[in-house]
Amino acid sequence: MGPRIAITRESHAGETRVAATPESVKKLIALGFSVSVEAGAGLAAAYPDEDYAASGASLVSSLQEAVADADILFKVRNPSEAELAALKPGAIFAGLINPYQSKPLLTALAERKATAFAMEFIPRITRAQAMDALSSQANLAGYRAVIEGAEAYGRALPMMMTAAGTVAAAKVFVMGVGVAGLQAIATARRLGAVVTATDVRPATKEQVESLGAKFLAVEDEEFKNAQTAGGYAKEMSAEYQAKQAALTAEHIKKQDIVITTALIPGRAAPRLVTAAHVASMRAGSVLVDLAVEQGGNVEGAKLGEIANIGGVKIVGFPNLAGRIATDASALYARNLVNFAGLLITKEGALSPDFEDEILKAALVAKGGDIVHPALKG
Ligand code: NAI
Repeated sequence: MGPRIAITRESHAGETRVAATPESVKKLIALGFSVSVEAGAGLAAAYPDEDYAASGASLVSSLQEAVADADILFKVRNPSEAELAALKPGAIFAGLINPYQSKPLLTALAERKATAFAMEFIPRITRAQAMDALSSQANLAGYRAVIEGAEAYGRALPMMMTAAGTVAAAKVFVMGVGVAGLQAIATARRLGAVVTATDVRPATKEQVESLGAKFLAVEDEEFKNAQTAGGYAKEMSAEYQAKQAALTAEHIKKQDIVITTALIPGRAAPRLVTAAHVASMRAGSVLVDLAVEQGGNVEGAKLGEIANIGGVKIVGFPNLAGRIATDASALYARNLVNFAGLLITKEGALSPDFEDEILKAALVAKGGDIVHPALKG
C-alpha cells in the first residue's frame, strides 16, 4: 500500500466542489498512492460514492476514519476543526486556504505539525501550469459570471432578427482581464454580445483584441509599468484610479452587463464601480462582481445576493466556480494529481523535495512553524 491520501466532504458553507473525482483517484493510484474517500464527499459535485469505489478508492463512513491514518489530506478549502484534530503529526495538507486571511488556520496547521501547502501560492511558471488551481477555477468562474449575468438580464445577448422585429445585441463590459476576465470575454462573445474590456496591465490590451473585443483604459506612464514580475497587477495610485474612473464612467452608463474581476493578491479588491456609476445605468442592467469575497469591485454588491438598486441588479454570488461544481472539481482534482506527483518517488515513497521551487513557493507551514515569508509574524 502506498502513502494514503484522504478526501473528505468540504465543510466550508456552500462549498459544492470536491478535491478528487473518480478519474483523479485512478491517476493518484497509478502514481503509487492509496486513496480513502469519505462517503458522500462528491455528491454535491455529482460524483457518486460507487464511482469512487469502482476507481479503487476505499470508501469510509466518517472523516475521522479517512483522516486518521492518512499521510496526505487534500481539500478544496480549509480543513475543519475535526479534520485538524484527526490529522497525524507531520501529515501533508494541500488546499485553497485563502492564505492572507487565514492566520488562525495557519497557526492550527503549525500546531498539528502539518506540512501544509496553499494551492494559491503555486508559482506561475510553465512547469507548474498543470497545478495552477487559481487559473483552473478562475477560468470556470469567468464563464459562469457571464451565464449568471445573462440569467439576471431581462433581454437577450445576441442580436436577433425576428418577424416581430429586431432584438439588439447586449453590450458587455469586462473590468479586469486576468484568467477569469479573458474567459468572460470569450463567453460573452460566443453568446453574441458586443464586448469591451479594461485592465491596468498593458499586456492585456493585445489579449482583449485577439478575442475580438475592444480595449478601453487610461494608457499613461503608470499604466505602462503596472505589472509585477510575477504577472500580477500592482495597486494603482489614487490619481490613476480617478482618471480611470472618469474614463469608465461614460462607458459604464451605456453598458447592459458589467462583469468585474479585478484583484490584487494580498489586498482588498480595488473599487472600480461606484454607486454613482450604478445609478447612471439604465434599469434592467446587470453587474456581476466576481471580487465580492475580497471586498468587491462594485459599490453596493452584497455577498450571496442579487442587490437591486433602482432597477439595476448587482450579482454578488461567492464561489462562482462552485456553481459549476462538476467541471470545477474535475479541473481542481487534476491540479492536485499533478501536484501529488511532486510528493512521491517512482518507487512509491512519500518524499517531497522541499528544494523544488514549486513546493518551496507553496509551502506555508512545516515542523510546527509558519514558514512562508509573506505570512510569518
Ligand atoms: P487576478 O485574479 O489577480 O486579477 C484579475 C485581473 O484584475 C488582473 O488582470 C489584474 O491586472 C486586474 N486588475 C487589478 N487591479 C485592477 C484595476 N484597478 N482596474 C482594472 N483591472 C485591475 O489575475 P489572474 O487571473 O490571476 O492573472 C494574473 C496574471 O497571471 C495574468 O497575466 C495571467 O495571464 C497570468 N497567468 C500566468 C500563468 C502562467 O504563466 N503559468 C497562469 C495563469 C495566469
